[in-house]
Amino acid sequence: MTTVCEYRPGLEGIPAAQSSISYVDGLRGVLEYRGINIVELAQHSSFLETTYLLIWGELPTKIELEEFENEIRYHRRIKYHIRDMMKCFPETGHPMDALQTSAAALGLFYSRRALDDPAYIRQAVVRLVAKIPTMVAAFHMIRRGNDPIQPNDSLDYAANFLYMLTERKPSELAAKIFDVCLTLHAEHTMNASTFSAMVTASTLTDPYGVIASAVGTLAGPLHGGANEEVLFMLEEIGSVDNVRPYVEHCIEHKKKIMGFGHRVYKVKDPRATILQELAMQLFEQMGHDEYYEIAVELEKVVEEKLGHRGIYANVDFYSGLVYRKMGIPTDLFTPLFAISRVAGWLAHWKEQLNENRIFRPTQIYTGRHDTVYIPIEKRL
Ligand code: ACO
Repeated sequence: MTTVCEYRPGLEGIPAAQSSISYVDGLRGVLEYRGINIVELAQHSSFLETTYLLIWGELPTKIELEEFENEIRYHRRIKYHIRDMMKCFPETGHPMDALQTSAAALGLFYSRRALDDPAYIRQAVVRLVAKIPTMVAAFHMIRRGNDPIQPNDSLDYAANFLYMLTERKPSELAAKIFDVCLTLHAEHTMNASTFSAMVTASTLTDPYGVIASAVGTLAGPLHGGANEEVLFMLEEIGSVDNVRPYVEHCIEHKKKIMGFGHRVYKVKDPRATILQELAMQLFEQMGHDEYYEIAVELEKVVEEKLGHRGIYANVDFYSGLVYRKMGIPTDLFTPLFAISRVAGWLAHWKEQLNENRIFRPTQIYTGRHDTVYIPIEKRL
C-alpha cells in the first residue's frame, strides 16, 4: 500500500532508512556511533578502531584491530595506472574532482564479486579506507610537479597521511589531533553524501561507484565544502574588528555564515566543542594567529545574534582552522573530510546490502498536461 506523505523540501524530517550505525540528538548535542558517545571515542579510540566499529558493529578485540590495521597498511599503495591517470589531470583542478575520478577508477581494477560475500565486502572496505588517503596525497604532490610519496609502513594511518602530504613526519600532537579529526567526521546519520551513497548502493553497483557518488555529493559548499568556505570567510573578514560588521551584514542580507547552523543540531555541535579544544592545544603548541582570534570572536558574535534561532558552530567551523595550522592547503579540507567519512559511507553501504530495496521515491508533478507539440518552424 502506498501512503501519501506531505512534501517536505530537502526531505526534512522524513526517515529514508532504518539504521543502527549512528544517532544524533540535535537538541541535547549528542552524537553516538553504535551507541558510544563521540566524546568517548575521541578520547579513547583511534580512527581505524572507530572505522571497524562503524562497519562491523562492535569494537574489535586487540587481535582483530591489529589484523585490520595490518591489512590497511598492506593495501595503502595505489597502482601506477592511477598515478599516471592523475598526471593527466589539470593541476588547477579541484582535489575533490580528482578524488571522485580516482575513487571511481579503482572499480576498473578490482573485479566485481557477489555483494553477499563477506570476504569481498572486507576487501572493498580495506582497499577504499587504505587507498583514499594515498590518492588525495598523490594528487597533491603531482599537481605541484612532484612524484607522489610512497606510504611509510612505520607510521600509523593518520601520521602516514600527513607524511605523504608534507614529506615530513608530523609531531605526535599533530598526528593525534588529525586522527581525532578523522574520528569526529567519520559518520553522521542520514546526511546528503550518505544518502547519495545509499541510493547508489541500492542499485547494487560496485562499492567504488558508491564512494565516488558520495564524494561528489560531499564536495558542495553546503555540505563538506563548508570547511573550505570557512577559511575563505575568515580571510575576507581579515581582522577581529571586522567580525561584528561582517555578521550584521550577513544577517541583513540573508547571507549564510559558513560553519554555522545545522539541519539537526539546534545547540552547538558536539564535534565543534571537541575540535575547539584540539585547536586550542595546537595553537598553544604552534603559536596563536589572527585567524584563531577572528574565529573565537566570530563564534561569540554569531551566538549572540543567532543563538536564539538555534544557529551555532558546526563541525566545519574549527576543522578548517586546525588543518590550516597543520599546513594543509585549504582546497584539501574537503578531501580530508572524505578520507574520514568513507568509514560511515561504507558502514551504510554494508547495512543497505543487508536488506536492500532500490530507492525509488515519488514526486509531485507541477507541470502541464496535454500540451500540443508545435513544429519548430511555427514556434515564436
Ligand atoms: N548563517 C546565517 N543564517 C543561517 C545559517 C548560517 N550559517 N544557517 C541557517 N541560517 C538561517 C537561514 O538563513 C534561514 O533563515 P530564514 O528562515 O529567515 O530564511 C534559517 O536559518 C534556516 O536555514 P536553512 O538553510 O533553511 O536550514 P537548513 O536546515 O536547510 O540548512 C545548513 C542547514 C545547510 C547547514 C545551513 O545552516 C547552512 O547553509 N550553513 C552554512 C554552511 C555550513 O556550515 N554547512 C556545513 C554543515 S555541517 C556538514 O555538512 C558537515
